[in-house]
Amino acid sequence: MLVTGAAGFIGSHTCVDLLTAGYRVVGVDNFANSSPRAVERIREVAGEAGANLEFVELDVLDAVALGKLLAATPFEAVIHFAARKAVGESVAMPVEYYDTNLNATLRLVEALREHGPRRLIFSSSCSIHGDVDVLPIREDAPARPTNPYSRTKWMCEQILADVCAAQPDWHVTALRYFNPVGAHPSGLLGEDPRGIPNNLMPYLQQVAVGRREYLSVFGDDYPTADGTGVRDYIHVVDLAEGHRAALEHLDDEAGYRVVNLGTGVGTSVQQLLTAFGAACGRELPHRVVARRDGDVAALYADPSYAAETLGWRASRGLDEMCRDAWEFQRRNPGGYDGAAA
Ligand SMILES: NC(=O)c1ccc[n+]([C@@H]2O[C@H](COP(=O)([O-])OP(=O)(O)OC[C@H]3O[C@@H](n4cnc5c(N)ncnc54)[C@H](O)[C@@H]3O)[C@@H](O)[C@H]2O)c1
Repeated sequence: MLVTGAAGFIGSHTCVDLLTAGYRVVGVDNFANSSPRAVERIREVAGEAGANLEFVELDVLDAVALGKLLAATPFEAVIHFAARKAVGESVAMPVEYYDTNLNATLRLVEALREHGPRRLIFSSSCSIHGDVDVLPIREDAPARPTNPYSRTKWMCEQILADVCAAQPDWHVTALRYFNPVGAHPSGLLGEDPRGIPNNLMPYLQQVAVGRREYLSVFGDDYPTADGTGVRDYIHVVDLAEGHRAALEHLDDEAGYRVVNLGTGVGTSVQQLLTAFGAACGRELPHRVVARRDGDVAALYADPSYAAETLGWRASRGLDEMCRDAWEFQRRNPGGYDGAAA
């Protein structure tokens, strides 16, 4: 397997899952949003199977380096995680987002077209839907991305669908993740974003270790049970297993398909705060502030297509997500590289 973005949050957990399931993995990353220590941790967590990980520091935008790697190794399939992923940052830096996310996918597809394999799993996002009319969200819900990041994901999906339509020997699955959280239960691997976390859970993790003063809850007047926003949080280890299931089913049919990876369970910000507080043993400081532009009341998946096509279902609940995320943060309060509080 070739895994791009292997040192990132989801990539690192997926590498561990693949290695322990017996796959040989070549991971690539340019560490734009991750640490080389994550690669050491993948090997450590995978134990003996860690010897089957080869790592190459590489920018996926570098067509020459990518071509050389693909020409030299007969890969069975590729999982493409490498991308910029922060919604807010994408609004401020649209050019960088379009450049990295679109060009990384285009360079990769060109290299695969030349050297093979024409078998690819692509990281997409439920955020391509924007504000939805119908819940839970099915794969055929309309795409109405509301920011540059989500537009890059939707554009990449369309590019990949067009490639499959033009050349029938491609097998591509786009996985639309809901809200990945949690960490490997060892506490050795987890989410360690550079700078101020954009997402709720890593922010909360940093509040819990004193790196951030308090959590801002953006609005408590949504039409939800407790007034706070509802999302579909999914344990990153479930997500990693979902990638393996997608790999194992890539040959079921040629062409392009899209599969939601979510739990189908909606959890509010308030519920997450309470569960994380229970995991770390204290109530976490938070303040309700105004709603954030572009946020919607509730988003959660219809996960039934993943069960039907991949035989995969998420099995880990909210308490496990919070327990594992806290274990990672407790053991690595400053993240992989020991950032100051
Ligand atoms: N985490 C989420 O909430 C979420 C939700 C939906 C989709 N996704 C998508 O899943 C994928 C993985 O997300 P993540 O949370 O693990 O993010 P991440 O930032 O932790 O991982 C992405 C990795 O890609 C690397 N990378 C970026 N540009 C690169 C380049 N040009 N060449 C080589 N490596 C490069 C980064 O250094 C990083 O290690 C991304 O495509 C993201 O858009 C994430």
